[in-house]
Amino acid sequence: MENNVFEQMAKKYDTEERMELAKIIVKEVRPELQNSKSKSLIDYGGGTGLIGLEVSDMVDSVLLVDSSKQMLGVAEEKISRKGITNSKVTYADFTEETHNLKADIVLMSLVLLHIPDTKKILQELFNVLNNGGKLIIIDFDKNDKVYHPKVHNGFSHESLKEVLTEVGFKSTNMKTFYRGNRIFMNKDASMFIASSIK
Ligand SMILES: C[S@@+](CC[C@H](N)C(=O)[O-])C[C@H]1O[C@@H](n2cnc3c(N)ncnc32)[C@H](O)[C@@H]1O
Repeated sequence: MENNVFEQMAKKYDTEERMELAKIIVKEVRPELQNSKSKSLIDYGGGTGLIGLEVSDMVDSVLLVDSSKQMLGVAEEKISRKGITNSKVTYADFTEETHNLKADIVLMSLVLLHIPDTKKILQELFNVLNNGGKLIIIDFDKNDKVYHPKVHNGFSHESLKEVLTEVGFKSTNMKTFYRGNRIFMNKDASMFIASSIK
């Protein structure tokens, strides 16, 4: 996977543009976390915590899981600087090995596009969830203007829903919630949120 890219960019990851986009994502995720005060949340590929730490007030605990130690280092600094007491980080890559972590909610924002085998990672995240748990995915809609050998050029709602059903999710709600200029590899693009129940 593209770990090295994130290892190298960690200290410079939180640009104005990324923080603006993160605010838009957080606004969309928060309603999904209503009545979750007793729930545990894993932010898979949580990076510098732009999403996970901004919803930590809505859940019992947040675990930022990431395969980049540098990104997690930035998140850890934020946790201590902001005095967030219910959030931690852990280094892991579920595409490499299975972990026995469990959570009520798994959040994955702008990570699925970086993982070559979509079905395998969704299967791993399904296994991490407790029964009745929720997977929230934020990513880009399929975009023919984008090409990169190591990154999916977004996802079509239909085919992603199909994979989510195949790995065992009972239901999925999915909608496009934002269109922006040059937000996906410098191309105009739209983002979706998918919410699936185990
Ligand atoms: C574009 S960043 C998104 C960070 C954060 N979720 C957000 O929305 O601000 C992608 C993150 O996914 C992580 N990542 C990529 N592949 C991963 C994998 N296989 N396992 C865990 N983390 C991964 C990267 O290290 C990086 O921190």
